[in-house]
Amino acid sequence: MSAVEKITVVGAGNVGATCANEIARQELAGEVVLVDIKEGLPQGKALDMWQTSPLQGFNTRIYGATNDYTITSGSEVVVITAGVPRGPGMSRETLIDTNARIIKAVTENILKYNPNPILIVVSNPLDVMTCAVCKAARNRLSSGRIFGMAGILDTARYKTFIAEKLTISPKSIHAILMGGHGDTMVPLPRYTTVSGIPISELLDDATLQDIIERTKKGGGELVNLIGTSAWYAPGAAAAQMVESVVRNQKRVFPVCARLTGEYGLKDIHLGVPVVLGKNGIEKIIELKLNKDEYALLHRSARAVREQLKKLDELGIFSPDETCNEAV
Ligand code: NAI
Ligand code: 2OP
Repeated sequence: MSAVEKITVVGAGNVGATCANEIARQELAGEVVLVDIKEGLPQGKALDMWQTSPLQGFNTRIYGATNDYTITSGSEVVVITAGVPRGPGMSRETLIDTNARIIKAVTENILKYNPNPILIVVSNPLDVMTCAVCKAARNRLSSGRIFGMAGILDTARYKTFIAEKLTISPKSIHAILMGGHGDTMVPLPRYTTVSGIPISELLDDATLQDIIERTKKGGGELVNLIGTSAWYAPGAAAAQMVESVVRNQKRVFPVCARLTGEYGLKDIHLGVPVVLGKNGIEKIIELKLNKDEYALLHRSARAVREQLKKLDELGIFSPDETCNEAV
């Protein structure tokens, strides 16, 4: 049975369509709505996906719409993937101007027809766009209802590389990764195990460092291969977050969350471990980081703050559009 009535995915491109497909396949909602600015694309992809329902055995109905947000009304969860992806040689930061304008318009449109949705942000640069959605929501939602997807994807990449090196199932790797979605992300070997066995007993330091470096550049590796950014793992990662929310699973994932003093950081959205349930972020888990891990997390926060400064300089949001929580 579907967990909720309706889920909307904004942006019917590579990541949005993949995510919508996963949501439908798992029957996480009775209806999935795909919204895009392009004519035909969301309708066509929705129709194509719906035609897999007899093959894959799901009942979820998938609709597409062009710039029509009335159809999103009643969505419990909205996944925002609208925006421009990066191409080879581009950093995620170059997308701030274009994507912040898109994110602002999308958030305002969603909130016109949905009074209290959970908003999952995917568009890049992720940590800044999650803050941009918060600003555009103008304090109408509690901060636990707005969060971003990145850490779960970066952790999946990290686990995959470890599994490959050890020739074992990726399902046996347990790990957590924190920080911003970029080269300063913070994989945590001390919290990485193979079914409880510390990773340090199975891999030497140099090998693990190589894996960490590959993980940090994991998005770029795919951009260089494909010519645009990845979508299968990002779409599946966003859908797994949706599942934890709509099925109230209370799973622990690294999620880009608004910090209010946790880890000595505030007024920033950054990847940290959280409990995800029906209310969105139900708890931020504070790990006892050692001095080096703490320093790396703060270095990552400084990199995100630099990007937030750029966002402020663009003047897209007025000073009263803050990241403050709903009162
Ligand atoms: P894409 O180009 O395939 O799809 C983006 C879609 O957004 C397009 O169909 C476009 O028409 C649509 N769009 C643009 N403006 C819009 C608006 N105002 N309203 C509704 N739709 C609009 O790009 P892709 O590969 O799906 O990536 C989407 C975003 O997700 C990019 O910013 C990318 O960098 C980001 N991304 C983030 C990841 C993460 O880990 N957080 C992972 C992968 C991608
Ligand atoms: C990724 O990590 C580009 O953020 C995107 O695949």
